[in-house]
Amino acid sequence: MPYVIGSSVQLACIMVGLPARGKTYIAQKASRYLQWIGIPTRVFNVGQYRRKLAGAHQDHSFFDPTNAEAVKQRLQCAFEALGDMIKWFKEDKGIVGFYDATNSTVARREVIRKRLEAQGIQVMFIESMCDDESLVLSNITQVKRNSPDYAGEVDPETVIDDFRARIAHYETVYETITEDDATFVKMLNVGSRVIINRIQGYLQSRVVYYLMNLHITPRSIFFSRHGESLYNITGKLGGDSDLSPRGLKYAEALPGLIAKHMDGQKLTVWTSTLRRTIQTGQYLPYPKLQWKALDELDAGVCDGLTYEEVEDQYPEDFALRDDDKFNYRYRGGESYRDVVLRLEPVIMELERQHNILIVSHQAVLRCIYAYYLNYTPDELPYIKIPLHTVLKLTPRAYGCDVELYKFDIEAVDTYRANPKRPSSLRRLGSQRRSTSSPTMAGQPPALRRNQLNSGVISSPQTLVCVTPPTEEVTQVSTPMAQSPLLQPQ
Ligand code: ADP
Ligand code: F6P
Ligand code: PEP
Repeated sequence: MPYVIGSSVQLACIMVGLPARGKTYIAQKASRYLQWIGIPTRVFNVGQYRRKLAGAHQDHSFFDPTNAEAVKQRLQCAFEALGDMIKWFKEDKGIVGFYDATNSTVARREVIRKRLEAQGIQVMFIESMCDDESLVLSNITQVKRNSPDYAGEVDPETVIDDFRARIAHYETVYETITEDDATFVKMLNVGSRVIINRIQGYLQSRVVYYLMNLHITPRSIFFSRHGESLYNITGKLGGDSDLSPRGLKYAEALPGLIAKHMDGQKLTVWTSTLRRTIQTGQYLPYPKLQWKALDELDAGVCDGLTYEEVEDQYPEDFALRDDDKFNYRYRGGESYRDVVLRLEPVIMELERQHNILIVSHQAVLRCIYAYYLNYTPDELPYIKIPLHTVLKLTPRAYGCDVELYKFDIEAVDTYRANPKRPSSLRRLGSQRRSTSSPTMAGQPPALRRNQLNSGVISSPQTLVCVTPPTEEVTQVSTPMAQSPLLQPQ
């Protein structure tokens, strides 16, 4: 159910570009963003269909436009994927579909456009061009090398040579978009120049604006809740209380850990406008910005009460919240859905920025974390983000690595598990939403996720315990499907 728009518009985003130009990256990322703001979105990756039909281990000759048998097979894959996308629009009422393939000729694009428009589906082409040879090479060595296309191939030079030969085949037929009557956005060298044509309406402009804000410079995003507050100790919700003595200790220890990771690099600290986050950031020697949008979820009439008092004074509301925590709106306050919406400008700004430390609150950080790690609205309000713990997110090609740094400074546990949560949700609780091919649609999300185009979508999580100031004690790697941030229900 979309929670941003109720739309009858359906939009197909048709990726265009030579191999290793970031098409899958762009499609996956934009899809994650749109899903997070509540728009049903899906990526249809033709490479997955090709691997299924023709097998994964095809060398460059399979992409040679003079190889008639391969051309036939590739065409079949392209139309199967397109057919599935149209079916998804029609039967599942999808809103935005990304058709992830090279679509490198005018003729191919025209066929696709006609078929979609005949079904009343809007078409927008998204072309990524890149003549930065070193970037293309790094995309091959860091991303394509891990693709299922090269599974088992250990020699990097063999992969580079074969992938370059694949690109060369495409270059013989590639035609950049010149179709003036079409809607398109053309990005040159990762958005250093963006050309847009005939963009109209909410969905198209939302996607274009998002794409214009993307960059791929490596960076770190740190999350921290404020140190333990006086309200936390008494179990009270909301408020604007000061830090407890243990919370202040955390504020004192935080700069050591961050400095170690930044090693002289620039960083900006974002806090909410509430005292507890400002006090937590007070010793950090970096530029700081306060965002009202980072203030904790507003508990309305329940602000200042404990969970027990809420249950006692508002039993019906308490039960309703357990029934549907994402959508439940406190009387005179907010729901998680509301918080996601007010955080949208924060996410957009995060995409534009480099190293950022966000010092915020339990509910708010759940929402931001869910964007990066693709949690569903059902899972989101139950993500475990403990006090006195720093999360470090490192964006990767199609996902994010997460490290947890737990400080050895005691704090209360403010997590409340849901006694009513049905067992089906409990099972789903450790799986991410998938944006993979509909050919995998019948399989569980975790499995589907692992079968994405490159095979490198997995987001390993590392748990590191920190004794103040910064001594790392243990390090445990856990696969994504056993995220330490989801409390077993
Ligand atoms: P394609 O789908 O075009 O074959 P991929 O999406 O698999 O390429 O390539 C992923 C890599 O592309 C990532 O390492 C990412 O950093 C990089 N990338 C992202 N956007 C762009 C862009 N606009 N131009 C070139 N490379 C990009
Ligand atoms: O208890 C700390 C706190 O940040 C409260 O201020 C807030 O109401 C609550 O957590 C949000 O968590 P939940 O949505 O799980 O109640
Ligand atoms: C592919 O097979 O990986 C692919 C992108 O297909 P096409 O070039 O036919 O779009």
